[in-house]
Amino acid sequence: MTRRFLFLLGSHRSDGNTELLARRAAAQLPGDIEQQWISLAEHPLPDFDDLRHGEGYPNRPEQGNLALLLDATLAATDIVIASPVYWYSLSSHTKRYLDTWTSWMETPGLDFRTAVAGRTLWGVTTSAGDLPWLADPLVSTINNWAAFMKMRFGGVLRGNGTAPGDVLKDTEVLARAKTFFAQEPPLARFPEGYTRAGSDTEPAA
Ligand SMILES: Cc1cc2nc3c(=O)[nH]c(=O)nc-3n(C[C@H](O)[C@H](O)[C@H](O)COP(=O)(O)O)c2cc1C
Repeated sequence: MTRRFLFLLGSHRSDGNTELLARRAAAQLPGDIEQQWISLAEHPLPDFDDLRHGEGYPNRPEQGNLALLLDATLAATDIVIASPVYWYSLSSHTKRYLDTWTSWMETPGLDFRTAVAGRTLWGVTTSAGDLPWLADPLVSTINNWAAFMKMRFGGVLRGNGTAPGDVLKDTEVLARAKTFFAQEPPLARFPEGYTRAGSDTEPAA
């Protein structure tokens, strides 16, 4: 499968730091790798309904933002979650996209988990604080999301900045951005010691 990167912009404002940083990293990708960029603010998803144990989910959506995002997700070998840190974790646009994966997993005939297994999740984020570990919940969420789906995890590129453009003063992260997507990402694993016997939340073998 030809490599194709999907960049999902999760900021609740346009031209923010996270997008700037993601574009810096993406600029290093070879020209033969396709890129698709989608702003989740400009293509809002409906609120997620938990229909798993009731009426279930309808067939695959064929129009609207749900169809756009599902098709883009299935077409991507690499999915980049470009979410700013909001309250130590993902922005709500991004979290809604993640919750929507639950409905895709249950969509008749889609076999979504099999389709995305082995593909790669990456993260790009910026936050105002200069204590990077305060964004650990965001990093854990993306790591565990990838582990649950038996995907690869490329890590999270973390920049610093508050007002739009600030991240361009973070010279350390700009240097890391140059090689961020050049890594060979390993299969994601849940944190050491996290097992629930008989559950598919166990780390991938
Ligand atoms: C709702 C909200 C919550 C935020 N929570 C945090 C936080 O927990 N930690 C932090 O360091 N910065 C926090 N920030 C600051 C943003 O992470 C920072 O402004 C970042 O540069 C925004 O990224 P953007 O320019 O891509 O939108 C928050 C901002 C907003 C709007």
